[in-house]
Amino acid sequence: MKPYSIAIDGPSGSGKSTLARMLAEQLGFLYLDTGAIYRAVGLYASRAGAETTDEAAVTALLSRLQKITFRHEDGVQRVYLGDEDVSIAIRSPEASIHASHVAANPGVRSFLLDMQREFAENHNVVMDGRDIGTVVLPDASLKVFLTATAERRAERRYAELVARGIEEDFNQVLTDIKERDQRDIERAISPLRPAADAVILDTTELDLTGSLDALLDLAHTRLGLGGGV
Ligand code: DC
Repeated sequence: MKPYSIAIDGPSGSGKSTLARMLAEQLGFLYLDTGAIYRAVGLYASRAGAETTDEAAVTALLSRLQKITFRHEDGVQRVYLGDEDVSIAIRSPEASIHASHVAANPGVRSFLLDMQREFAENHNVVMDGRDIGTVVLPDASLKVFLTATAERRAERRYAELVARGIEEDFNQVLTDIKERDQRDIERAISPLRPAADAVILDTTELDLTGSLDALLDLAHTRLGLGGGV
């Protein structure tokens, strides 16, 4: 039987990664954080000395890209570039910028397409990203587009930074979120948009538990999985 695949797309700060990971755990599916793959490619290209905005230079480096793998260690998913654990390095602000540059590069996107699709061929998966329902897995068993107002996403991001002891101005966080939305939506290749058959889930008024319950309910009603809530 064809494995199940659940595509979760949406803007940054919508809670995608956390919710996709929790949903996968609840359903016993594998979780693939596709943003981490773009981040690892950005890290690799910048370390190799390329300007990550230089599409031709980055594309030329792809044939030498080390294998990107996900490993479970002590219940936590780690991201490896070759033999190196880059889980922390890919989350730095610079790495985020390099990731968004390489994600706008058509050569990189087509190079990563097969890798993402192969992952879903042999396992039941929850994959989160920007174009999973529209491009990577157009036949996904369930597609969800997570949204929330920019203000609410900025509040969550701000709370996260405060919890980590990082001082940031709230208005700056909000401006950054709005700018990133604009870049993702206006990107020529694989722009951020819901698939025609995606369920739009607005989490503005939902906390994490409420959002997860809504996802489990969808998995239950649409796919007959998870027992519902
Ligand atoms: O979700 P994230 O912030 O870790 O994603 C990192 C970058 O990769 C971000 O600029 C969006 C981009 N991305 C993408 O274009 N397509 C995906 N499927 C996942 C991420």
